[in-house]
Amino acid sequence: MGCGVISKQYIQDIQRLYRELEICMVADVHSDVAERTAQQYNILRWGTPDELLNDTETELIINLTPPKMHTEVNRKILLAGKHVYCEKPFALTLKEAREIQELARKKGLAVGCAPDTFLGSSLSTCKKLINDGWIGKPLYVNANMMSAGVETWHPRPEAFYEEGGGPLYDMAPYYLSALVKLFGSVRKVYANAKKGFAERTVYTSERFGCKIPVETPTHFAVIADLKNGMLANMNFSFDISKSTMPHMEIYGTDGTLEAPDPNMTGGVPKVYRREQMLAECFGGQDLNDGGFCTLPELYQDVGNFVRGAGVVDLVHKLDNNEKEDAQLAVHVVDIITSIIKSAETGIPQVLETEYEERK
Ligand SMILES: NC(=O)c1ccc[n+]([C@@H]2O[C@H](COP(=O)([O-])OP(=O)(O)OC[C@H]3O[C@@H](n4cnc5c(N)ncnc54)[C@H](O)[C@@H]3O)[C@@H](O)[C@H]2O)c1
Repeated sequence: MGCGVISKQYIQDIQRLYRELEICMVADVHSDVAERTAQQYNILRWGTPDELLNDTETELIINLTPPKMHTEVNRKILLAGKHVYCEKPFALTLKEAREIQELARKKGLAVGCAPDTFLGSSLSTCKKLINDGWIGKPLYVNANMMSAGVETWHPRPEAFYEEGGGPLYDMAPYYLSALVKLFGSVRKVYANAKKGFAERTVYTSERFGCKIPVETPTHFAVIADLKNGMLANMNFSFDISKSTMPHMEIYGTDGTLEAPDPNMTGGVPKVYRREQMLAECFGGQDLNDGGFCTLPELYQDVGNFVRGAGVVDLVHKLDNNEKEDAQLAVHVVDIITSIIKSAETGIPQVLETEYEERK
């Protein structure tokens, strides 16, 4: 549902990698767009959103509409009796996120949500390295999503600068989902935010040179307390031309782990262990050129930017009689909305929800 920019990646990756899924139909509010997409990827049927909702062969719908449509479309999909996998952000408010979670429970249907990048080889390897004790007891995380925004590549950048857009709804879900998957729930957030530019200039398509008003903060500085006692400091920005800050560094009692970009499914983790530091300080020895040691990815790397693993994961859970209920996505929406509230009020916010990893 929704045949825009990211739909192509989903279709290509599902057709290439995940043969247990069959894309039987595509739909968009612009049915000509749905028709073009179907023809480009040899999908037999296309139609309007209502035609897809009423399609009897379709069991699960992937919601790839713009963020402000997510709740309404998720609700319609569940009411039509189909499982749903939604792109991020799951919802713009915690109330909406919980409503969809509850509706899915009532209807006995599964609801899943992107991002799924933590299922990729890079973050799975990081999780194993941490669990195996490579950096000792993790203490702190520093995460940075420092970008110049989307107007240089996205054909419809407006929504990214409206309420419900900005780096927090658009990009933070990758970092926050990785953080929670690696270390568990966030307990409390303190945040500040700024709008670095009053308007943005479109660089793409026939709209080159048009100005877009900025209606949402585009830079967030955040400190988060985790339930396990760790501290995380994070920046999410659309206002930065270039940065040398790490995507995600994890500092433990026995060393530091540099995690690859949580927006990606592949990438190589790097570790710097405490004995390197001690050897440099006291042994007069440089064990690894003073730098990090690159570690191999321990799981199959299917590419750096792949979409669809979360959909397959949801389907496998259904096959095993487990129901995905978007608990992680609801917690991430709670973190995002608590960050916004803290930035608006100047008051730290304690979260209402938790995420517990199922064994
Ligand atoms: N573009 C990316 O690289 C990217 C990457 C990862 C995730 N996402 C997420 O994917 C989602 C879609 O992003 P996009 O960049 O593809 O957006 P887009 O604007 O390119 O495409 C959205 C499509 O949805 C259609 N649409 C709008 N309302 C609809 C409705 N009610 N029913 C059916 N179709 C409807 C639009 O006509 C459009 O074709 C967003 O949540 C975004 O955060 C995008």
